[in-house]
Amino acid sequence: MSSRKIIFDTDPGVDDAVAAFMALACPEIDVVGLTSVYGNLPIDITTANALRFVELAGRPDIPVARGADRPLVVDDIGPVPFIHGDNGLGNAPVADPSIELSPLHAAEFIYQMAAANAGEITLVPVGPLTNIALAVRLHPDLPELVHEVVVMGGNAYAPGNASPGGEANMLHDPEAADIVLGEDWPLTMVGLDVTNAVNLDHAQLAAIAAVDSPPNLLLAAAMPFYQAFYEDNLEGFEGLCPHDAVAIAYLLQPELFETVQKPLRVEMHGFGRGKTWAADPYHLTEPNSPWAGRPDVTIATGGDAQAISELIVAELTRADSGSKP
Ligand code: RIB
Ligand code: CA
Repeated sequence: MSSRKIIFDTDPGVDDAVAAFMALACPEIDVVGLTSVYGNLPIDITTANALRFVELAGRPDIPVARGADRPLVVDDIGPVPFIHGDNGLGNAPVADPSIELSPLHAAEFIYQMAAANAGEITLVPVGPLTNIALAVRLHPDLPELVHEVVVMGGNAYAPGNASPGGEANMLHDPEAADIVLGEDWPLTMVGLDVTNAVNLDHAQLAAIAAVDSPPNLLLAAAMPFYQAFYEDNLEGFEGLCPHDAVAIAYLLQPELFETVQKPLRVEMHGFGRGKTWAADPYHLTEPNSPWAGRPDVTIATGGDAQAISELIVAELTRADSGSKP
C-alpha cells in the first residue's frame, strides 16, 4: 500500500506535537510538508516548533512553510501559554532549530504542493483555518487539486472549549473556518464531539515517555504541563486529551469513528462565535436557510475512544519511532 501524502498545518502546541510525531513515525503517512499558523502561541513560536519536529524526527528534508500570524478579519483571541507553556511545548527545554524555512508562505506552499501532486494531497489542519482559507481564496482551483481535508476543530453537538460556543481552532478565525467548511471538497471535521472523549491515561503517557528517541524525549518533557492543565481544571480527569492526534488516527482507521454527513456553518456573533452548526432537517430547506448551497461535510460525532487512544500510543511507541525513512 502506498503511503498517504499529507500537509500538516499546525499551531504547536503540545497536542500538535503528539500528532506531528505520530504522523512522522507512521509508515502509512507521508508528511510532505508542515505549515505553521498562529494559534496556541504566536507565529514565531509555532513556526520554530514545526521546524523542531522535522529535525527531531530525523526528517530535515521535509519542508516547513511559515503561515498566517493573525486571523483574516478581526483581532485574534490570543495565545494560550497557560495550556501549552510559554514555548508551546510545555516549557520543555528545546534547542534553536537549525534548518531553514521554505521561502514560500504557507498558503502558497499548500497550493504549489497540491498542484504538483494533483489529487494526492490530504490537508490536515489542526490549528486556526487561516492558511487554508487564504490558499483557497488565492487559488480557487485548490479544491480540485486536493484529495481530502481532515480538520481537527469544531463542535457540532458538544459545547465549546474556548468559549461557551466555540472550539479553539474555530474561535481563532471563524471567518476562515466558514470559508473552508463551505468549499466543495471532501472534508471531515474531527472536533470536540469525538476528541473530548479520547484520553491518554497515565499508563499510556508513561509508555510514550519510555521510548528513547528524540521525539519521545521531547514529548516526555512537554506533556506534563499540558496534562496538568487538564488535571487541575477538570474534576476527576486523569491524563490529557490529544485532540490533534485524533485527526491522524482518523486518517489511519476511519472505521473507529461514527460520522454523519451534513452541511456546516460557523457562528460569527456573540458568545456562540466559533460554534459549528450542523444543518438540522427543520431549517435546511427554509428559503433563507444558513446552509443553503453548502456542501455536506463528514462530521465525526463519536467513536471507539479507547481504540483511538491505543492507536495513538501504538504509533508513538513503534520500535523505530521518529526515524521513518
Ligand atoms: O480545541 C483543540 C485544539 O485547540 C487543538 O488543535 C489544540 O492544539 C488547540 O489549538
Ligand atoms: Ca493545534
